[in-house]
Parts: sequence; C-alpha cells; structure tokens
Amino acid sequence: MNILVINGPNLNLLGERQTDIYGNNSLDELMIWLETSTRGENHEFKFYQSNHEGTIIDAIHDERHWADGIIINAGAYSHYSYAIRDAISSVNALSIEVHLSDIMNREDFRKISVLKDVCEKQIYGLGKNSYIEALKILETKYESK
Ligand code: DQA
Repeated sequence: MNILVINGPNLNLLGERQTDIYGNNSLDELMIWLETSTRGENHEFKFYQSNHEGTIIDAIHDERHWADGIIINAGAYSHYSYAIRDAISSVNALSIEVHLSDIMNREDFRKISVLKDVCEKQIYGLGKNSYIEALKILETKYESK
C-alpha cells in the first residue's frame, strides 16, 4: 500500500512549538519514528510538509495515481479549508485526518473539521500515535476493499 503523509502549516516547527501541547519531537523525528516502527509491513511512505494551502492541494493531485492512502494533518486548515476538502474528495485514495492534540478539548474553533466527512476517520489526541492509528485503519480498509 502506498501512503502519502501530509503535514500542514506550522507542523514544521514541531519540537519548538507549544511543546506542552505538541510534544518535544521534531517533525523529522516523528516521521522517521513512524517509518521505522512500522517497517516490515506492506507499505511505502512519501512524506510531504507545507505551510501553503495550494501546495498541499498540489501534493494530493500529484500523488493521486501513486497513493492508495493519505494520512493528513492539515493543521489549522483542517478547520476551514474547503479547498483541501475538495482535493481529498477528488482523488480515489482512502484518507484519514489526524491531529496530535485533543482538538475536542481545546478552543471551540478546533472542534470543527471540514475534512472529517470526506475522510474515512478522524483521529486526534494520541500524540504521535495518532499517525500509527491512522496507518492501521488505512491498512484494514485497504485490505477489505
Ligand atoms: C493540530 C491541531 C490544529 O488545531 C492546529 O492548528 C495544528 C495542529 C494537531 O496536530 O493537533 O496546527 O492539527
């Protein structure tokens, strides 16, 4: 299974940014951890990070014939980007929305996701394990397709 992992705005500052909420790992450390702790399973990753809405959409478009699954942490765009929502709906990959933090127990605006309904599932509040959970769900859904 080919999996595109997309991290959106401000996630490049993981490890420096609000470490009480997002933890001490950098994005690179987190993605290397995801790759190494799931090595040997039947998948290949591509990792993409951008602070820009349009380039996130371009990545979804560009990988649409490669990606069987998408794990997307769109950061704050999750709460209002109809354009990213449309991009997810425009491709055949199974998508999972992830968040490191518990968005249901933070500010009200974070409780709303415009991506949720076009994704197979929304996972939040598990820290880096949110990505592993997303991977497990993708693999199960892909096998039963
Ligand atoms: C986040 C939650 C979002 O509300 C926030 O804007 C982020 C990170 C998370 O991973 O917890 O940038 O997606």
